[in-house]
Amino acid sequence: WAIYAPYVAAINKLKKEKNAVILAHNYMTPEIYHGVADFVGDSLQLAIKATEVEEDVIVQCGVHFMAETSKILNPSKTVLIPDMEAGCSLAESITAEGVEEMRAKYPGAPVVSYVNTTAEVKAASDICCTSSNALQIVNAMESDTVIMTPDQYLAQNVANESHKKVVFWEGSCIVHELYTAADLRAYREMHPDTKIIAHPECTPDVVAESDFTGSTSGIIDWVHSHKPKEAMLVTECSMASNIADELPEVEFAKPCNMCPYMKKITLEKILWSLHTMTEEVEVDADVAVKAKQAVEAMIDLSK
Ligand code: 13P
Ligand code: SF4
Repeated sequence: WAIYAPYVAAINKLKKEKNAVILAHNYMTPEIYHGVADFVGDSLQLAIKATEVEEDVIVQCGVHFMAETSKILNPSKTVLIPDMEAGCSLAESITAEGVEEMRAKYPGAPVVSYVNTTAEVKAASDICCTSSNALQIVNAMESDTVIMTPDQYLAQNVANESHKKVVFWEGSCIVHELYTAADLRAYREMHPDTKIIAHPECTPDVVAESDFTGSTSGIIDWVHSHKPKEAMLVTECSMASNIADELPEVEFAKPCNMCPYMKKITLEKILWSLHTMTEEVEVDADVAVKAKQAVEAMIDLSK
């Protein structure tokens, strides 16, 4: 921590001077999560929080689609991202044309797009969803067939729980697709008391092997409320690191699949971002209006 202290102090001072707030995703490293974030959460919580920010500046410590969502929901704010290259394999897997392709293939079916998409894809969709409300949103659609983009595994996991016919785009998360059910079974054989907790971007086989599946905040809440003796968080590495100190009674197996995009955000870049007021995230006004409708429809249904 000693090496981080000067950065943490400088960032927290600059935040006050610039009237800025740091919204951070649960995958940020511990020095960001515990040291400088004003609010931490999953994608849905971050989106809702963005609507409530009163400060002039939002520094989004997460990936680009999260910063875009903040800008879409609270357009009068300056939204900064410390590294414009913080992308997402899911967001990169589909364009607005891809959404139209799916509509042409399944006429009349509504498009539910994961928030891990660009503003253009959100604008071309009927409604968004996150990992915490995907099933609820799909079930709320009137049509019997629902198109989900772009995460094929989230879509299959939802389909396994829903009465709807779910058709999907074939994107995937480069972090979660690496986990296999065979690896989890092998681990459980050696550690039978371990609770396996997986994110729904994992394959259906991995989800079937787990004791609980939920959004990043759902996972954190589950571990806090159940306090298992041993836990394996089948998601990004920083999750276990961020909560391990608060839960000394839980022994965490730390499988570590790192998200290279989330890890582009560092204390040094946050400091530079606040110092220079860069990089500013902008969304085309027409796209933003339509994307906002899709995100707000999701937030309304999630209440
Ligand atoms: P959550 O909404 O569950 O935080 O997921 C976001 C994400 O990118 C997970 O890989
Ligand atoms: Fe995208 Fe996967 Fe990284 Fe989440 S963990 S930001 S879904 S690449």
